Order: sequence, then structure tokens, then C-alpha cells
Amino acid sequence: MFDKSRTLPLACDHGGFDMKEFIMKRLLEDGYKVKDFGTFSNKSVDYPDFVHPLAKAVSEDEYNIGIIICGSGNGAQMTANKYDNVRAALCWNEELTTLARQHNNANILSLPGRFLDFKKAFKMVKIFLNTGFEGGRHTRRVDKINEILE
Ligand code: RB5
Repeated sequence: MFDKSRTLPLACDHGGFDMKEFIMKRLLEDGYKVKDFGTFSNKSVDYPDFVHPLAKAVSEDEYNIGIIICGSGNGAQMTANKYDNVRAALCWNEELTTLARQHNNANILSLPGRFLDFKKAFKMVKIFLNTGFEGGRHTRRVDKINEILE
């Protein structure tokens, strides 16, 4: 669950810029504090340049939850998941968003900016922020994610 007294970071590339602006505006209207990691226009950029700083900050516990957006959501998610303690989930509907929190304890939501209605994406962000991890058997499974085979 997201504590509203904390700051919520967002990052995107040009494929996610319009959605990021929409979501950020709605979050600010709802009283959230946000940190904008960019990008800051529709000009073509490389998504890792914007996702790396956000994911590093989440990995180092500067933020406990983050939102990243690129055209498909894939490149942003792949970049974020390179960091320890980061579990970035690519979601495209409300149910997947709920499950990413309940079962996977995802701490970054990756959105496909070119494939989702913005209002639906904002609804998903609110779900992500307000859904808790179920723990129990899921704790064991999430812990095993780091057990890479030699
Ligand atoms: C940019 O055109 C696009 O490749 C990027 O936003 C993203 O979809 C990559 O995964």
C-alpha cells in the first residue's frame, strides 16, 4: 500500500509521455506528491535513460513504489528489473494490476502508453497504490525469484 505522505516517482519515454502527463496531473489533483523523472516532451528518446534513475532510486528505497511508461511497457519493465529489490510488472488491465500487488509484491508498475486508454491507466495506478501484498505462500514464491540457478 502506498503511504500518501511519501513521494511517487514517474518516468517515461516519448511513447509514454502523454500518458505520464495525464496520470501526473490526476495524481496531483488527488493530493499525491510526485517526482517527475522525465522525459519532458514527445521528442524521441531512449527509455533506459529515464527508467534507470527511477529504478535505482526504488532499489535503494528512496521510493517504495514507482510508475514507468513506454510505448509497449516492455522496454521500461525490462530495464527496471535489472535492479535488486525491484519487481516491475507490465500490466494492461485492472485485474493484472491487482494481482501484481497481491501475489508478486510488485513495486513498479509498467504501463504501455500507446495501448491503453489514459483513464483506465489512471484507474490502474490507483489500484496499484491501494492494493496490499497478500504474503503467505506468495512470500515464499517472491523470495525464490532471486534464486538464480548456477
Ligand atoms: C519507442 O518507439 C518504443 O520502442 C518504446 O517506447 C517501447 O515500446 C519499448 O519497449
